[in-house]
Amino acid sequence: MVCDLNVERARKIAEKYGAPRAVTDWKEVAADETIDAVSVATPDFAHTEIAVGIASAGKQLLVEKPLATTVAECEQIIAAAKKAGVKLMVAFHNRWSPPFHEAHRLVETGEVGQPRFVYYRLSNTTFVPTKMLAWAEKSSVLWFLGSHAIDMTCWLLGEYPNRVYSVSRREVLKRKGVDTPDFYQSTLEFPSGAVASIENVWLLQESAPSVVDVKCELIGTAASIYIDTTSNRALEIQRAEKVQYGDIIGSPFIHGKQVGFQVEAMRHFADCVVYDREPLIPGEVGLEVTRVACAIEESAKTGKPVEIER
Ligand SMILES: NC(=O)c1ccc[n+]([C@@H]2O[C@H](COP(=O)([O-])OP(=O)(O)OC[C@H]3O[C@@H](n4cnc5c(N)ncnc54)[C@H](O)[C@@H]3O)[C@@H](O)[C@H]2O)c1
Repeated sequence: MVCDLNVERARKIAEKYGAPRAVTDWKEVAADETIDAVSVATPDFAHTEIAVGIASAGKQLLVEKPLATTVAECEQIIAAAKKAGVKLMVAFHNRWSPPFHEAHRLVETGEVGQPRFVYYRLSNTTFVPTKMLAWAEKSSVLWFLGSHAIDMTCWLLGEYPNRVYSVSRREVLKRKGVDTPDFYQSTLEFPSGAVASIENVWLLQESAPSVVDVKCELIGTAASIYIDTTSNRALEIQRAEKVQYGDIIGSPFIHGKQVGFQVEAMRHFADCVVYDREPLIPGEVGLEVTRVACAIEESAKTGKPVEIER
């Protein structure tokens, strides 16, 4: 069943994927006894009511990132899933991305030595806040992209930060008529002494060869790892008007079948439901990421570092 407030959109997607019903009220999904699992993919700030309602109806739950945009809401979703005894996974799909998975493996095996520094850039062209997302003003580049960056950085380091400092500006996009921050530049300090620098910008030129720019450096005492999934040029398409880097690892179609790390994450959730396994990314991860993002927001607002207590 596909549910969307926009019935046309629901119908189109239902038709494309062969779903028998398209509805506009999520409560119809919750009430349908033939449905075992639900993916909640409403805008960032609109996950909680639906996720709590769906979990309470006994359905297994996959929630898009960020789990929710306040710590209290994350706690509500986790509590509802626990009470109903259903699985809860947050869709931080980059953990299935081959280079990031390999970097994590190299940390786990000790080949990186002691990780000391992470640089993580995850940015979009202005297409995303000005044309793609109708709700950019009600969210931000921090929630939309920063949540991925925080999750990946903490996963690579194997710990969560206890102190953050962030700088943000709200000027250029506001002048373009979308009142949302242009960027966040955040410094995260970790209990081990490791430090991360996270950069999330929504100002890249629309002529860029990819709508998303991903760069990561992981510097350890025994090895340094450099990741660039955007401009690795494994596939470069040169057209008269624009050069584009095609999607080769996210969700490309190979001989009619959709593959890639974004699909793998959903397959993992489906496997967990079918084979009764625990998802690799439980709700608690979503909660910690939101805790860090809230501290980053507070730091950017006050201009002061914020200590994170757990
Ligand atoms: N995993 C990823 O990398 C990734 C990528 C893109 C988006 N997302 C996340 O997915 C979520 C959706 O993003 P999007 O880009 O698809 O946004 P979108 O605006 O394209 O789609 C959201 C849809 O939700 C519908 N909606 C809103 N409130 C609803 C309600 N109460 N009941 C039913 N439908 C409702 C809207 O009509 C809209 O069609 C966001 O949380 C976003 O951060 C994740």
